[in-house]
Amino acid sequence: MEFVCQYDVREILGQGSFSEVKRCIDKRTRQAFAVKEIAYDTAKRRDKIEQEIKIRHELNHRNVLKLYHHYRAFDKYYLVMELACGGDLFEDLVTRNAFSESTAREVMLQLFNAVHYIHGHRIVHRNIRPETLILSWRSAENNNHFPPLKLSGFRLAKKLPEHSDLINCPVKGSPLYLAPEIVTKQPIGREVDIWACAVIFYILLASYPPFWSTNRGELFGIIARGKYNLPDQQWKSISDGAKKLIKNMFMVDRNDRITATDLVEDVWTQNGKLSITNRKGTLEHLNAFNAKRKLRGAVYTIFAMKRMMDNPESAESNAVK
Ligand SMILES: Nc1ncnc2c1ncn2[C@@H]1O[C@H](COP(=O)(O)OP(=O)(O)OP(=O)(O)O)[C@@H](O)[C@H]1O
Ligand SMILES: [Mg+2]
Repeated sequence: MEFVCQYDVREILGQGSFSEVKRCIDKRTRQAFAVKEIAYDTAKRRDKIEQEIKIRHELNHRNVLKLYHHYRAFDKYYLVMELACGGDLFEDLVTRNAFSESTAREVMLQLFNAVHYIHGHRIVHRNIRPETLILSWRSAENNNHFPPLKLSGFRLAKKLPEHSDLINCPVKGSPLYLAPEIVTKQPIGREVDIWACAVIFYILLASYPPFWSTNRGELFGIIARGKYNLPDQQWKSISDGAKKLIKNMFMVDRNDRITATDLVEDVWTQNGKLSITNRKGTLEHLNAFNAKRKLRGAVYTIFAMKRMMDNPESAESNAVK
């Protein structure tokens, strides 16, 4: 049956680089969902969307945004997904009055669980960044309890072949979150997701990124060396457990990097009694980082759309923020 026969479409929830996401209601059950409408105009693009759909249908976990159904019309796909109205992780954090290492643990535990689950399915996400972590609802709507976090954005995801834990991939993804083996163009595996989680973890605690340059080549050089600092001002009040975890996630040699299994079992991840001291400075800086990120995102989306209109074949390779 066609999508339009089965669902009533409501308001727009968000705009992606190649898609529009709307709220929709199942006409029969009256249950609300989100539908992502993705246009395609070439066979290559259609195959890529099919690949994403195949991967997503395999996944069923409380911290992974669920894809329920998909429909193909002559020029677009409709992806019916679970509704997650809390915005992305950083959008939510900056609206909170308080943020502590204990809250960071709640966030990271959910992310580690999601990554552990997809890695168990031999799936490498390749694009973990704050924009792909969306929340079911806003913390403020629930007495500041941290909402369920859902890993989304599976456009670059790859399934590892049975015979190998490594694949060759072009350099794609948001530069800030790329692992050394990506920027040095080596084969990659699940370890790239651990590195991206480490970047998010670091930003959560410090409120600025660990590796930074406005010049892409320079940034890649810094990432390849994997050198980062933990200045006292932000880090002296952070537990040794968190610092040790970050160190084990930021191993330049991917063979030395901690795995998702070890992350979910780590003492820090399992420690429910971390400091609840409010990190007011972190929230203020995070607000500034978030504002810049939003601006960058808006500019990239416009560029991606323009490229898509000018040259649909090449647009895909440059679109990721
Ligand atoms: N399940 C959902 N529930 C509510 N809002 C959603 C949902 N999925 C996406 N959105 C909103 O739509 C916006 C665009 O979605 P998304 O980023 O997934 O699309 P995209 O950019 O085309 O895909 P991708 O990021 O995987 O390349 C998001 O920023 C978010 O605001
Ligand atoms: Mg997007």
